[in-house]
Amino acid sequence: MLLMTELTRLLGIKYPIIQAPMAGGPTTPELVAAVSNAGGLGSLGAGYLTPEQIRSTIREIRKLTDRPFAVNLFIPGKTNTPDETIQKMTEVLDGYREKLGIAVSPTLAKYEESFAEQVQVILEENVPVFSFTFGLPSSDIMEAMKQRGILLVGTATTVEEAVQLELAGVHAIAAQGSEAGGHRGTFMKKAEDSLIGTIALVPQIADRVSIPVIASGGIMDGRGLVASLVLGASAVQMGTAFLACPESGAHAAFKQRIMQSDEASTAITYAYSGKAARGIQTEFMKELKSYEGVIPEYPIQNAMTRDIRQAAARANNPEYMSMWAGQGLRLAGERTAAGTVELVMEQAEALVGKMSGRS
Ligand SMILES: Cc1cc2nc3c(=O)[nH]c(=O)nc-3n(C[C@H](O)[C@H](O)[C@H](O)COP(=O)(O)O)c2cc1C
Repeated sequence: MLLMTELTRLLGIKYPIIQAPMAGGPTTPELVAAVSNAGGLGSLGAGYLTPEQIRSTIREIRKLTDRPFAVNLFIPGKTNTPDETIQKMTEVLDGYREKLGIAVSPTLAKYEESFAEQVQVILEENVPVFSFTFGLPSSDIMEAMKQRGILLVGTATTVEEAVQLELAGVHAIAAQGSEAGGHRGTFMKKAEDSLIGTIALVPQIADRVSIPVIASGGIMDGRGLVASLVLGASAVQMGTAFLACPESGAHAAFKQRIMQSDEASTAITYAYSGKAARGIQTEFMKELKSYEGVIPEYPIQNAMTRDIRQAAARANNPEYMSMWAGQGLRLAGERTAAGTVELVMEQAEALVGKMSGRS
């Protein structure tokens, strides 16, 4: 039995497992291709990549697999951070720069990559699936994608957001529960007012939309997959479960922390990027807690902490690195990506067999 669903048919994949896009390094071409080759859908987190990097990474993925895969971007928003707040944060961050021995008060050429140029590459490269988070692209972009046959997956953290995504014309919705690692995809209300657990979120979204729902957040094994399908999902999107795979580009110190952490190791923070995100707790997160409310908005804070995170990575010091991860950490393993997909499917099939009295 293959657990075929509406979404596996739509995406042309064998198993209802999507490896979550994870911007910032984990989703190497090797990881994306390995998951797609194993029968799932690999996803490239391209949010921080330049248009040229996106193009070359897509081409590398294509060298490694002829199966479908997704490319994911961040929808840009408006910022309203006063210069004075940026100045104050520069002073706070300079303390960390001094500790790490890097130049203080660096000038930043830009806060983020051009979304229009990133989208252009995705259109030109004609990727099979475009997924996105933090909002909705313009209807022109959605239309251009659809004309090329690119399938669209939007991220929702509430029923209201899911309804809006369906109205805008996406093909499927990634329902991101509050257990999820990484940035909150919330785009309608405040992130702290949109923290709904996966088990509550998925069936409520499934009841309100007619397109396939992808359950995401805290799903680590066959139990999570079967539970999600029972709740009305057509597939799962798993991030943390793939972070410690050998193919993942996550830093070695981050992989080590994943294997040592548990269900209570993470917290939601604004410290690294100015946008709510769940990660393994660090000194940096704890120390910046007192600045919450005066942290520059995303993407400003994200650009402002980049040199610190990079220096911490070079120094193998995870305390100043961002280590996005979900609450399922105790279930994380170091298997290969294909081994992870196979294990989840074996567990799920055994469970379904057991529940239907076949074993
Ligand atoms: C390290 C990391 C980076 C992430 N980056 C992205 C991203 O670039 N785009 C995105 O849509 N979601 C991103 N996410 C969120 C995932 O899509 C997904 O919601 C999450 O991994 C699900 O929860 P789990 O980690 O418990 O499986 C990221 C998650 C992690 C752990």
